[in-house]
Amino acid sequence: MTLLSVENLCVGYQTKNGVLKAVDNISFHLEEGRSLGFVGESGCGKTTVGMALMGLLPENGKIAQGRILFDGRDLVQLSDEAMRAVRWNDIAMIFQAAMNALNPVHRVQEQIREAIVAHHPETPQGELQRRVEMLFDLVEIPRDRMQDFPHQFSGGMKQRAIIAMALACDPRLVIADEPTTALDVIVQDQILQEIKIIQDQMNISVLFISHDIAVVADVCHDIAVMFAGQIVEFGSREEVFETPIHPYTRLLLSSYLTLDGDKPEPLAFSGKTPNLIRPPLGCRFYEQCSQATTACENNVPEFRQVSPTHRALCNVIP
Ligand SMILES: Nc1ncnc2c1ncn2[C@@H]1O[C@H](COP(=O)(O)OP(=O)(O)OP(=O)(O)O)[C@@H](O)[C@H]1O
Ligand SMILES: [Mg+2]
Repeated sequence: MTLLSVENLCVGYQTKNGVLKAVDNISFHLEEGRSLGFVGESGCGKTTVGMALMGLLPENGKIAQGRILFDGRDLVQLSDEAMRAVRWNDIAMIFQAAMNALNPVHRVQEQIREAIVAHHPETPQGELQRRVEMLFDLVEIPRDRMQDFPHQFSGGMKQRAIIAMALACDPRLVIADEPTTALDVIVQDQILQEIKIIQDQMNISVLFISHDIAVVADVCHDIAVMFAGQIVEFGSREEVFETPIHPYTRLLLSSYLTLDGDKPEPLAFSGKTPNLIRPPLGCRFYEQCSQATTACENNVPEFRQVSPTHRALCNVIP
C-alpha cells in the first residue's frame, strides 16, 4: 500500500534576491514498510523535502505548489492544528545534526519521556516507564544508562537517543536526515543496521536522507537522486546501482568505492551548482555533463521511463 505520495511539489524560500526554488516540481511515492533514500550534494534540497513533509518549513519557506498525500490525505491542505496531530504521531523526523540538540540539563530518559507526554499526556506513569524502557531496548542503549545526562553519552549513543525520540509515538513514517553523518564508520554501520531492523520490526516506512550514495544503497529499497532541487533519477536500489541512467548518478557512483575492487573510473565534477533563484532554462546538469549536447542548454529535460519503476530526467541518454 502506498503510504506517501508526493506530487509536483515545489518549495521556495523568500530571499532578498528573490524566491530560491529549493525544491522544484518533484514527485515520488513510498510504500508502507519500505525505505526510500534521497541522495545528492549539499544544497540540492534534501532537508527542504523533509521539512515540507513535516510542515516545519521556516518563516521564509513556502510550499508553492503540489500535493503531499499521506495515507490518502493531502497534508498541504491541513490546518496547523491538524498537522500538529500528524507530526510525531504519524510522521517523525530525525533532524540533521540533532544529536547536539539534546538538552544538556535533563537526563536522556526524561527527554524521551517528555516526547511521549507532549503528544499523549494521558499515558499512565507505569506505561510511560515501560515505553521508555522499550525504546532504550529498541535502539540498544543499556537500561542502566537511562539516568545519564547527554554529556555522559558517546556520539553514537546520543544519536540512538535521538532515534528513540523519533520513535516515541510509534510513527508510520520516519524521515531520517543524515542520521549517521557525524559518526565514525563502525558506529555508523551499527546504527544503519539497527535502523533496518527497527524498520522491519515496526513495519515503518523510512525516508532516508544522505549525501552518501553508499549509505543510501545499504539501507534503502528505492533511491531518489536529487540535483539542484529536482529528482533526476528514481528507481529501485538495484536499478540505480546496476544501470544508472543520469550522468549525475553515474558521477555519484563513480566516487563510490566497492569492496570487490570493481570501481569505475572517477568522473570529473566541477562542483558548480546552478543558481536556484534564476535556474537555467534547460537541463540543470548541463554545465557539468560530459554527454550534453547543445540542445540540453535550452531544452527542458523530460522524464524517461526505463522500466515501470525506473526513470531519469535526461534527454540525451538512450
Ligand atoms: N531558510 C532558508 N532561506 C533561504 N534559503 C534556504 C533556506 N534553507 C535552505 N535554503 C537553500 O535551499 C537550498 C536547499 O537547502 P537544503 O538545506 O534543503 O539542502 P540539503 O540538500 O539538505 O543540503 P545539505 O546536504 O548541506 O544538508 C540551498 O540552496 C539552501 O541554501
Ligand atoms: Mg540537509
